Amino acid sequence: MITIIQINMQDPLYKQEQDLRNRILLRPIGLPDHAWEMDDHKAWHFVAVEEDNVVGCVILVPLHNGQAQLKQMAVETLYQSKGIGRLLIETLLAFAKRQALTEVVCHAQDRAIPFYIKNGFEIYDEPFVEVGVPHHHMRIRL
Ligand SMILES: CC(C)(COP(=O)(O)OP(=O)(O)OC[C@H]1O[C@@H](n2cnc3c(N)ncnc32)[C@H](O)[C@@H]1OP(=O)(O)O)[C@@H](O)C(=O)NCCC(=O)NCCS
Repeated sequence: MITIIQINMQDPLYKQEQDLRNRILLRPIGLPDHAWEMDDHKAWHFVAVEEDNVVGCVILVPLHNGQAQLKQMAVETLYQSKGIGRLLIETLLAFAKRQALTEVVCHAQDRAIPFYIKNGFEIYDEPFVEVGVPHHHMRIRL
């Protein structure tokens, strides 16, 4: 059974979150391990866990004016397309509402746009390239 839980960086599961992000997000685009952890200390962390193993993760970084940014969304390859990404987003959005946030934005890799659209996000502004990968700005109002 998959459970979504919120953790902090002291939690032993954080190491697994880092490993997952290295394998699923960073290495496929040629970035070194741990290259994108600059916001981790101020982020809320959510992980999908099956029997003490982290199989999915996402973080939410507070911005300003009621906004926050969804980042580092990843699901273990063999666990993709089983609804775990959706569960992570639902948990994150419910949490954001409880925090009285008004909008969640993200930098969506183009390959993941259909996933975000299915979860209620919309594209805004112009496309851009980040770390060599085509992206779109996406947002959902709460
Ligand atoms: C994108 C990602 C997080 C989605 O997680 P997931 O657990 O596979 O997603 P879900 O199973 O909840 O999928 C929900 C819906 O989005 C669709 N979807 C998921 N990934 C998709 C993709 N890359 N392209 C098109 N559709 C996708 C699924 O078909 C599903 O629709 P359905 O329920 O109608 O079949 C996951 O595929 C992943 O880690 N990909 C690699 C890393 C990545 O791209 N991260 C996002 C960076 S911005």
